[in-house]
Amino acid sequence: MIPADKIEEVKQAADIVDVVADHIKLRRTGSSFTGLCPFHNEKTPSFNVSPSLGIFKCFGCGEGGDVINFVMQMDGVGFEEAVRTLAERYNVVIQEKTEDQYDPQQHLKDGIYHALRFAGNFFHQNLAESDDAEYAREYLKKRGYPWKTVRKYGLGYAPDRFDGLLKNAESAGINMQYLHESGLVKAREDESGYYDTFRSRLMFPIFNPSGKAIGFGGRTLSSDKKIPKYINSPQTPVYNKSEVLYGIHAAKNEIRKVGEAILVEGYTDVISMHQAGIGNVVSTSGTSLTAGQIRVMKRYGEMLLMIFDADTAGVKAAVRGISIALEGGMAVRVLTLPEEEDPDSFVREYGSEGFLELRKKETVDFLHFLVGLAQKEGRWQDPIERRKSINEILEAIAVMPDGLSRANYIQELSSISRIGDRALLQELEQIRNRIQKNARRTAERAAMRAGREEQDSRRPPSNNQGRQEAARHGEMEHYTGTSVQGAVSRIPADAGGKVEFSGNDTGAEARRHMNPPKRPGYEKELIRLMLTFGDKIIEFIGSYCSENDFEDPALRDCYRDIMTRFQNGDPVSVEVYSRREHPYPELLGEIVLQRHWVSEFGMKKRGVAIHRDASPVNTARGALKSLKIRYLERTREKFLDQYASASDEEKAEIQKWIRKATSEWNRHRQEPAETLFPDI
Ligand code: GTP
Ligand code: MN
Repeated sequence: MIPADKIEEVKQAADIVDVVADHIKLRRTGSSFTGLCPFHNEKTPSFNVSPSLGIFKCFGCGEGGDVINFVMQMDGVGFEEAVRTLAERYNVVIQEKTEDQYDPQQHLKDGIYHALRFAGNFFHQNLAESDDAEYAREYLKKRGYPWKTVRKYGLGYAPDRFDGLLKNAESAGINMQYLHESGLVKAREDESGYYDTFRSRLMFPIFNPSGKAIGFGGRTLSSDKKIPKYINSPQTPVYNKSEVLYGIHAAKNEIRKVGEAILVEGYTDVISMHQAGIGNVVSTSGTSLTAGQIRVMKRYGEMLLMIFDADTAGVKAAVRGISIALEGGMAVRVLTLPEEEDPDSFVREYGSEGFLELRKKETVDFLHFLVGLAQKEGRWQDPIERRKSINEILEAIAVMPDGLSRANYIQELSSISRIGDRALLQELEQIRNRIQKNARRTAERAAMRAGREEQDSRRPPSNNQGRQEAARHGEMEHYTGTSVQGAVSRIPADAGGKVEFSGNDTGAEARRHMNPPKRPGYEKELIRLMLTFGDKIIEFIGSYCSENDFEDPALRDCYRDIMTRFQNGDPVSVEVYSRREHPYPELLGEIVLQRHWVSEFGMKKRGVAIHRDASPVNTARGALKSLKIRYLERTREKFLDQYASASDEEKAEIQKWIRKATSEWNRHRQEPAETLFPDI
């Protein structure tokens, strides 16, 4: 537990504007600051920060809180870890933690972060001061890294011992369990204790977007070919390799500014590019690019420039990487470096001007890159081989979520290959059908497995080993009376196979039929419109609301799910959701079947031929208006509550926020829906 006075001290010391500005661009408006909300997608700023109150609030999505809440949200950490992060940044000294009162998983993570932070400081200190690190210091100097760079990237040196970090951590009171969980020490085989994972290596801390160390890469300085050049931290609760980009903490603002990320291969490539003044550079640290890494990148920019070496060894992986980035919805360009160069050596030699010149001359979009590759490998000249290459390219186009971009690239491919665009489109459709079918099948299999596990966990505990085994192998019919078929009918139709709805109520609890909660009609209406009318309406509604606008939790989850599918380019329809797992089918019944019978019926009887859906956009506008009015009402009430218990100096500020919410509320009540929600 951190003492209350320390928490207060941290809050006083921390500058919320400074902390938020690490993540988004803020503009001063009077005594507050505004910017684009980092917690939801928006085009006009509704995110407000008040330095005098020390709070932030998004009028778009409802997220809000103090500086500690902001760090918790942004870093995905617990309260204590957020306080410690801020304490360190603002030089507030807090003694080591003792008792645990937290969520064990979060507590574990906090402990690991703490161990990693200690290790980072230890390696860095060691590089700075120890005699044994003289060689490493020389090496860095020779590579052109001044101390400023070493400090900025927290580089360090792991001593050539089995207990360098271990001993130091022990005497500093670091919990060995956490040090072990962080991957920095390994358990001895005879279980007599631990030993250092990284020995005699130059250490590159790997940071999360907010600059917290989550792992390390260690480079040997030996030229012995038998020693691996790099070793990396293992996967840990805080280090998920498939979502980590090296350099993101330093690159994110620049990526946001220019809308583009540059992807390179190695740690040194990132550092050297940054040092040369090209700030939007990140790397995968040697592993192949994953969908998770693309998701992280896309938070900051939509364009990706991939830099490849001239050597063709990595081409297979490169092509795969292109496809993953396209599937993630990024616009992909490729720059191939001259023979024998990597980004690090290139900028060292030619500087940023040289790089910019090269990029201007040599950058191609992914389509031209793939065609060029086929040409270079002699696959474009031969008609049969060319046919295959074109198919490969179509496969890459097929995964792009945006229909317009697909059409665009088909045109381009048509003009390069001189094959008519209709033939190409036909082929493309076939590929897309196949991909979708495969995704369905994967999902079905995943659901079947999940279904089995669920069956397993719902059975009463039993000592009968044989029965448990049988259940695990899918022969559970005798025990539960539910067939495998039953599990299949609950499958999620999406490829990821993720089953998510209000958390985890897949069990008996959720199946119990209670009186259905009364859900706001306009919320149901919005969901119905999205499911019935598809992309155009989803885009329209999505551009005007966010999940927090929804008051009903099930509908809020449903909205989030629809938007996720929409953004991934997955189909959204009544049919899709009727095949989804509980509770979608039930919810669907409520939304689609029970809609507005009364009013429509009444109108008909009066001889007024109305059809609600003559203009779905107009229907959506009406529902959006009600949704927003209610949301702003809730926001206003929340501020009014806060006002009651605020101190005098806070009151003035809160009053301003109440006024803001009230005026928005009034505006939404007075203005016609067409002006509130114009065509997009
Ligand atoms: P320098 O030679 O110091 O410039 O490093 P580099 O980053 O240029 O190394 P290289 O081009 O050989 O490798 C690119 C990236 O692949 C590295 O930054 C590492 O992340 C990764 N990598 C290289 N060698 C190994 C290895 O032996 N093991 C592992 N796990 N990763 C490696
Ligand atoms: Mn290199």
